[in-house]
Amino acid sequence: MVTALSRPTPEPNSDRVKAAIDENLLTPRFYTTDFEKAANLDLSYGEAGLQAMLEEMRADYNRHHFTRDESFEQSWEHIQGEERQAFVDYLERSCVSEFSGFLLFKELSRKLKGRSPLLAEIFNLMARDEARHAGFLNKAMKDFNLSLDLAKLTKQRTYTFFPVEWIIYAVYLSEKIGYWRYILIYRHLEQHPEHRFYPLFNYFESWCQDENRHGDIFKALLRSQPQMWQTWQSRLWSRFFLLSVFATHSLTVHERAKFYEMLGLDAAEFDAAVIRKTNETAARAFPVSLNVDHPEFLQRMERAAGRNLRLKELAQSQAPRFVKQLRKLPLILGIVGDLLRLYLIRPIDAESLRNTVR
Ligand SMILES: [Fe+2]
Ligand SMILES: [Fe+2]
Repeated sequence: MVTALSRPTPEPNSDRVKAAIDENLLTPRFYTTDFEKAANLDLSYGEAGLQAMLEEMRADYNRHHFTRDESFEQSWEHIQGEERQAFVDYLERSCVSEFSGFLLFKELSRKLKGRSPLLAEIFNLMARDEARHAGFLNKAMKDFNLSLDLAKLTKQRTYTFFPVEWIIYAVYLSEKIGYWRYILIYRHLEQHPEHRFYPLFNYFESWCQDENRHGDIFKALLRSQPQMWQTWQSRLWSRFFLLSVFATHSLTVHERAKFYEMLGLDAAEFDAAVIRKTNETAARAFPVSLNVDHPEFLQRMERAAGRNLRLKELAQSQAPRFVKQLRKLPLILGIVGDLLRLYLIRPIDAESLRNTVR
């Protein structure tokens, strides 16, 4: 884990450009993979699906969507204090996460060029979308006198290596969970326009369709690799990635409760809705989905999120180091214990459900 860099004191009325972000376990990571293996993937099982997705990506439905309209042209200085901090934090993490997708897709497209033309073009078009998303969020940050130096960030951050299969499971889920987060916020604000405190949210409906398409591309990729859904190992990995993505989501949403409150949403309810929807969607791609209706599921997840909040408070407290370490231990063990129990809850067999439906 990279230690947090101290924040420089901003000059009054000047923009603060950040080249580093305050990191913890929940900060979106930058990924790299085995490009050689990616270039040699046998796509014969999923070629038709991927070709269809490529046509969709070429159509570029959102070509003109990410243009800032006049609703942005006003001062946002009335958003202050804890609310401003919560919103800026949301923008920053979202921007880093979109940008992380851009870097991975761009690198994949560069390395696969001339070797796996279909995938190279698809990744290039997905990188196009993520660059738009990250750029749009970075512009929103500028409205709050802050921006990310994405070029410097690219060079300074450490990259986490994931084998190709892990990338496919993890990116599929992050695209689909991203879709559900954006669309659920959008639909909620349609019902409660009084909570639209900033125009960014008006863009979420078409935006989330990009994420949905990206997810479908990764679904086609996943289904083109039979070892990723036919084997018992694939069932264990699917459970692992579902749980990791849900836990990261849950802990982040509870940390960001203030932001959801600004939207008029209850963090715990939003958390549960996103998990339910993503789990349902994932059953179309993964060999298993999680039994999120098990009475212990959301209960343990919420308890883990609560313990994570206490860890955060502890890190910010003035207590001596050894006291902090001592108090940290039971909280960490508690989180690990809950997640382990959740992992062991019997999953739902998505493959046999799929066969029944057909
Ligand atoms: Fe995106
Ligand atoms: Fe995406």
